[in-house]
Amino acid sequence: MRILVTGGLGFIGSHLLRRLLREPDVTVANMDVLTYAGNLANVADIASNPRYQWHRVSVTDDATVDAILREGRFDAVIHLAAESHVDRSIEGGRIFVETNVLGTEILLEAARRHGVGRFVQVSTDEVYGSLGAEGFFTEESPLQPNSPYSASKAAGDLLALAAHRTYGQNVVVTRCSNNYGPYQFPEKVIPLWITNGLEGKPWPIYGDGEHVRDWIYVEDHVEGLWLALTRGQAGQVYNIGSRNQKTNKEVAHALMELLGLPPCVLVPVADRLGHDRRYAIDPTKAERELGFRPRYEWAEALRLTVQWYQTHREWWTSIKSGAYREFYGRHYGSLGPELHGR
Ligand code: NAD
Ligand code: TYD
Repeated sequence: MRILVTGGLGFIGSHLLRRLLREPDVTVANMDVLTYAGNLANVADIASNPRYQWHRVSVTDDATVDAILREGRFDAVIHLAAESHVDRSIEGGRIFVETNVLGTEILLEAARRHGVGRFVQVSTDEVYGSLGAEGFFTEESPLQPNSPYSASKAAGDLLALAAHRTYGQNVVVTRCSNNYGPYQFPEKVIPLWITNGLEGKPWPIYGDGEHVRDWIYVEDHVEGLWLALTRGQAGQVYNIGSRNQKTNKEVAHALMELLGLPPCVLVPVADRLGHDRRYAIDPTKAERELGFRPRYEWAEALRLTVQWYQTHREWWTSIKSGAYREFYGRHYGSLGPELHGR
């Protein structure tokens, strides 16, 4: 099977590439323009695999995307390339619209023109908006995105589903909960806190810290993507999650215990604008129809994650001294230079 992955130099994409290459009859092309969030180090172990190829191309580059899809004769596209950080989207949504909306439409059109067998649109539970104290997101939940990031992802999903309804394009949409694991860019909360902990820096926690996220280990997510690719029904949406809700305070305390740090590392900071209160995924449909079964348990997978950041210091210290610093300098300037490695 010939598969085009977009965003393969990012966190989830790099795990997906490794998972796909475990299939002996799969060849993978990776379309990734290498933004601040991409990193060649994430794929160093597979870069020389003869079944792997990287195209440094933006999903918004219409002509080049067309040429790659024409020449690649792909059986499938798995589309992950995106601007992915909510806080950045709050600073300005335009790049989110360009990449996550226009980029998705450009890929969908090229896939259609060149007869790609299946298009997997990799999306997020954030498109459903925020839950109160009770309930879960199902595939039938209304789309009520609250941030420029989630609104742009919802638009991408709707374009993909519309392509199925209008043209009969073979599209599957997955919506996954919050991922954690190795190679996650340290702007997201778990790697941010772990690496700040390893550097002796404080952990910013937004608002009252009682916001709930539903955490899944990245390896379980990419297994779900493989199942959606190979077993999903065209035109269907599948929620992917691990039934693992935690408040941000609970996450912080679990990490403090693993790192041997005292609660005083947590520093309350101003809440995120429009901060979604709770996400919780009901993955019943993926379990029933795709045979999806998460394999990683929270305590053990969080331990593995902490261990990875402890043993891959070079990976994150080089990131934290570059583009990241510039963003966090602006974002947290009022907290002084000690925070976020400035
Ligand atoms: P990431 O930010 O770590 O990586 C994104 C990748 O996309 C980077 O390698 C970047 O270089 C690439 N990219 C960005 N703009 C591009 C463009 N115009 N053209 C080509 N490549 C481009 O993101 P991630 O956390 O790995 O998320 C991947 C996908 O999964 C996203 O679509 C995201 O919405 C979705 N998702 C993420 C999570 C999560 O918890 N991280 C949960 C559910 C869904
Ligand atoms: P994040 O990792 O940005 O993922 P998302 O916003 O897509 O769910 O944030 C996860 C939760 O952690 C979210 O409720 C915001 C909170 N958070 C903090 O409390 N402090 C931080 O420094 C960051 C980045 C996030």
